[in-house]
Amino acid sequence: MTRPAFPADFVWGVAASAYQIEGAVGEDGRGESIWDRFCTVPGAVRAGETGEIACDFYHRFPDDVRLMRELGVDAFRFSVAWPRVLPDGRGRINQAGLDFYDRLVDALLEAEIRPFANLFHWDLPQPLEDDGGWPVRATAEAFAAYAEVVADRLGDRVHDWLTHNEPFCTAWLGYGLGVHAPGRRSVADALAAAHHVLLSHGWTVDVLRRSAPEAEIGIALDSRPIHPAGAAPADAEAARHVDGVTNRWFFDALLRGEYPADVLERFADAAPPIRDGDLATISAPLDFVGVNNYSRRLVRAAPDGSGPVDVRPPEGRLTDMDWEVYPPGIAEVLARLHDDYGVDSLYVTESGAAFTDVRSHDGCIHDVERIEYLSDYLDAVAGAVVSGVPVRGHFVWSLLDNFEWSYGYSKRFGLAYVDFPTQERVPKDSFSWYRDTIARARRTASEPAGGRLSER
Ligand code: FCB
Repeated sequence: MTRPAFPADFVWGVAASAYQIEGAVGEDGRGESIWDRFCTVPGAVRAGETGEIACDFYHRFPDDVRLMRELGVDAFRFSVAWPRVLPDGRGRINQAGLDFYDRLVDALLEAEIRPFANLFHWDLPQPLEDDGGWPVRATAEAFAAYAEVVADRLGDRVHDWLTHNEPFCTAWLGYGLGVHAPGRRSVADALAAAHHVLLSHGWTVDVLRRSAPEAEIGIALDSRPIHPAGAAPADAEAARHVDGVTNRWFFDALLRGEYPADVLERFADAAPPIRDGDLATISAPLDFVGVNNYSRRLVRAAPDGSGPVDVRPPEGRLTDMDWEVYPPGIAEVLARLHDDYGVDSLYVTESGAAFTDVRSHDGCIHDVERIEYLSDYLDAVAGAVVSGVPVRGHFVWSLLDNFEWSYGYSKRFGLAYVDFPTQERVPKDSFSWYRDTIARARRTASEPAGGRLSER
């Protein structure tokens, strides 16, 4: 594989989120989150698993920071658990919760790893859900107040901030389809949640600009290309509809200050409560946009006209999530944000794959499929960079195998294998591959584009 060199200041990282790794859900005054509650609903999470212990990162983070140092990353993208900081969602501040992130940030800086702090990765405080959750505007107000508390404590050391992770998932998986916490199934709730998450983002940009004036601020968007499965105009229309709900709704609001007219029209009966000025707030200028990309969706029109339906790819590889391996897709979304929306600073904030990893007789995990996946996706990112798309960094999801939401611990995304009963971390072959890729990228960074970077 030949891959042109990335720029010398390219940020190589790994990403994770609070509920998926921290555990310690009842410690040091942490409040309940909607994921703690959702995990108790029979059938909601595979095998009744929970984030109660997860990777025990809350206690083991010094070792895990050492692991990151071994990997040689420049940056770690983590999320702050709102219920650790404000156990009731608003009001009373839990200093012990803030102390944890203080220690984590200090450990990262000590290891020369840049903290990218994400303020929301789906673990809404349960008391706020009890008061209506994201479909109500007061939750967005509470979020901005929470952001201020975190920025006041960490803003002197954290330079890179993300407000939200994947607003589409928060809104639609949580409130529309009910497959994530809090498990509601209402289109009107999903649209209202989507609006209030975006509104809270806009207010928070303003909060962060004031509390940490030097900060760079962005958001991580799930961005899957949506392709029609067939040539029929109805399939193209189905793809446009799904793209409208999953991508354009968020891209247009954040980057153009408007919701797509076709989506508003389609959901006219379930319209979100938009007030004057909201879209100006939502489209506050950003320093970067983060792209989380794993796959694409193929859709076609249902024959009975009941709406778009997903189609399994006719050929090609699937990951253990049943997601299609489609490397050109990551370049497509990066280029789209640059070309169509004028974004001049992008990060890949998540990229990675779950495969069924087995520990072989030699104790190692020879995860050749993950190496191939990451290598092919990185080649696609490199291609985008070479063609002028301003990508500034790349974060692999994830450092460790972790709690994969409704799939529990059955899906392994880590560069390091976690033996959950003992909490032992075993670097997989992909860990060495990423370490070597980063090292090689640094060595070749100053070579002209076209220099040889990676071999697999
Ligand atoms: C993303 C999420 C992340 C993880 C990966 C596999 O959508 O942001 O928490 O679940 O998918």
